Amino acid sequence: MDPKSLLDEAYAHVQSAEACSQSGDFHGAYVEYTKAANLLMELAGQSAGEIKVSRLEKVEQLVALAERMKYKSKEQRLQDSRKRVNANERNIPDSPSTFEELGVTVSEKSDVSFNEVAGLDDVKEEIYNKVILPMKERNLAKEYRISPGGGILLFGPPGSGKTHVARAISHEVSAKFVIINPSALLSQWFGMFEKRISQLFEIARSNSPVVLFFDEIDAIAPRRSKTNSSVMKRAVPQLLAEMDGFRRDTGSMVLVIGATNNPWDIDEALLRPGRFDEKIYVRLPEESARRRMFELSLSGRKLSPDMDYGRLASISDGFSGAEIDYICRKVAEEVFRQSVETGVARDIDEAKVEEIIGRTRKTVNDSMLKRYDEFIKSG
Ligand SMILES: Nc1ncnc2c1ncn2[C@@H]1O[C@H](COP(=O)(O)OP(=O)(O)OP(=O)(O)O)[C@@H](O)[C@H]1O
Ligand SMILES: [Mg+2]
Repeated sequence: MDPKSLLDEAYAHVQSAEACSQSGDFHGAYVEYTKAANLLMELAGQSAGEIKVSRLEKVEQLVALAERMKYKSKEQRLQDSRKRVNANERNIPDSPSTFEELGVTVSEKSDVSFNEVAGLDDVKEEIYNKVILPMKERNLAKEYRISPGGGILLFGPPGSGKTHVARAISHEVSAKFVIINPSALLSQWFGMFEKRISQLFEIARSNSPVVLFFDEIDAIAPRRSKTNSSVMKRAVPQLLAEMDGFRRDTGSMVLVIGATNNPWDIDEALLRPGRFDEKIYVRLPEESARRRMFELSLSGRKLSPDMDYGRLASISDGFSGAEIDYICRKVAEEVFRQSVETGVARDIDEAKVEEIIGRTRKTVNDSMLKRYDEFIKSG
């Protein structure tokens, strides 16, 4: 390019950079100043003496301007993202009146019934007596000053059916099922945790019957000695206060269910009488329960008539309910795929289920189970 065109073009880019900067498009300004600087650099290369020096000086100025624009554009992006975070927080109104406004998930009435919970007979019986009966027989329970709500803690290894059982409870008492998930809430409730907790309970009371399901409760209410988080240190007392409150309130039916894999990490104060006073171990399924799980999970699928459920149960010791459910889904997927590929619709047979059982890794090991036993003994 000849010197005149280079100069003209560089000038055009400078003008465009100024326009960008004025309109707040700092990134655009940065790009334009950089282009101008490059062109002028090329021009300086073609010149000599004083002109060369003055052009190089101009290049330096343009580079400095470009850097400044780059910095401003970065700032701008940071501010935008801060604004977005604030907007997220503001999405929750100051005085929310529904669970949705608070950002928690509600299922109207869960469709999992106690019938679909395999095994865990003692767990079901305990829950029936402690929770379901007083909720069903409210008036009589009142005469005995038995409050229908309360708190129970479900603990046990991953996939043992804690969430499943909690859903079934809400089904049995025809209550709304509200999931409070700490990881989802921490960002949304950030800085206002105590206030949100008390709003949550207030909304629950006016919407009863409600099951408030605190998943991973060890994350919401860790031993205060073990956490440095001041949010958490304040969240626990608030939760305790709320739970003490509804203890005295026989009118509303709010059941709080906490679930955890790590019961030993929960703040002790939460486990005292009047709070999560019922601590229930949700074990891995026994043989009969595994048999029922295979029946439940395979039912309604295209099955070979001579499926030996007893055998499947006996070779799946140590698997959790979640894993058995996974095995059944996996087997259906694979047989389906083979059927599509071969054009012949095959039945799911026992050998195929066995094959998948053999390929599936158990997540729960003996040392984990031992730790639960020790926790039960110590409590
Ligand atoms: N006792 C059971 N009866 C029937 N199905 C079960 C049972 N336990 C687990 N399942 C199946 O496994 C799936 C996963 O179980 P669930 O999510 O309840 O486990 P969890 O104990 O809550 O696990 P995590 O600790 O990982 O949260 C359920 O959706 C259900 O299909
Ligand atoms: Mg769960």
